[in-house]
Amino acid sequence: MKLEQIETPAALIDIARMQKNIARMQAHMNTLGVAFRPHVKTTKCIDVVRAQIAAGARGITVSTLKEAEAFFAAGVDDILYAVSIAPSKLPRALALRRQGCDLKLVVDNPIAASAIAAFGEQHGATFEVWIEVDTDGHRSGITPEQDTLLEVGRILHENGVKVGGVMTHAGSSYELNTQEALVALAEQERAGCVRAAQRLREAGIACPAVSVGSTPTALAAAQLDGVTEVRAGVYVLFDLVMHNVGVCALDDIALSVLATVIGHQADKGWAILDAGWMAMSRDRGTSKQAHDFGYGQPCLLNGTLLPGYVVSGANQEHGILSSTDADTQVTDIEQRFPIGMKLRILPNHACATGAQFPEYHAVMPDGNSVEWRRFQGW
Ligand SMILES: Cc1ncc(COP(=O)(O)O)c(C=O)c1O
Repeated sequence: MKLEQIETPAALIDIARMQKNIARMQAHMNTLGVAFRPHVKTTKCIDVVRAQIAAGARGITVSTLKEAEAFFAAGVDDILYAVSIAPSKLPRALALRRQGCDLKLVVDNPIAASAIAAFGEQHGATFEVWIEVDTDGHRSGITPEQDTLLEVGRILHENGVKVGGVMTHAGSSYELNTQEALVALAEQERAGCVRAAQRLREAGIACPAVSVGSTPTALAAAQLDGVTEVRAGVYVLFDLVMHNVGVCALDDIALSVLATVIGHQADKGWAILDAGWMAMSRDRGTSKQAHDFGYGQPCLLNGTLLPGYVVSGANQEHGILSSTDADTQVTDIEQRFPIGMKLRILPNHACATGAQFPEYHAVMPDGNSVEWRRFQGW
């Protein structure tokens, strides 16, 4: 299908850009001598994950059991479920393992660790669990020097649960925007996770995997001694938030929303689009960064950027395209953006925008596209 024929709004993936992003990350991992386990929550799309595996990825990271079930059904069996598991979900995790899925769980507290151990004992099942380490105060995890680290390790180890490794996600990297700061955080993430593994090993608990990563720290890491694998997700498509962090150019962004101009408010300098927040998502991640891209950066249908314009407002199904300078009204908005004109809007946050759509239209270099399904839910 040609771009002009696709009904709007629609989520487009530029395949050439995506392949370039995949190759860039994999080459960096190969240089650093670590395995790469992509986080597939960004796209939830088997076609994308096949491209990541073809490039050299080993195993995947998921954020929901639904992703684990769907990707296992599609043939991926090495899966890290990187959200601390709610005990009520253990029967689904067990069902996956009994079908042959090498599913690894994550915990960061003694209560969840005990629940896994008790459930395993009750059902004669062996689980593999990785302990989540907090290396930057971003979200969850146990800090490397905390006593709880060894307490959780012992609960698992002494009750028949395999401690497969430690993992951390330095998500505070999204708040940075200099190479120097990113390199320093990547080193902090590495050193903290390696230290946690060392403490467990010194306590007699084997801890084979040391897993780190976010897109900014993965790309900034200068050395990863002691680390066995890296995880990253959004790098595969990139977005405006990542551009502001400084890890991609605008023309690396592989995801855009195809939209049609449906009207104007000429006196205000607005063109109205049929892509509102239902298409772009409510994510305003760039609002706290150096360059606020509103709800997205408009481009022509062929991907050429339209500097000086932004999607400045969004209702559910209406987007407002206007000048980036709030005080400058575009006097010829109706001529520049005639009704029926199609545009591509680069999103703030690729994971959030992709989640608004049941499928991607994957666009090939010749302008033709194919449909790639993605799934939703938990
Ligand atoms: C546990 C975990 N690992 C890895 C990632 C990947 O981060 P990014 O999308 O920045 O690559 C995430 C993202 O939220 C995550 O939660």
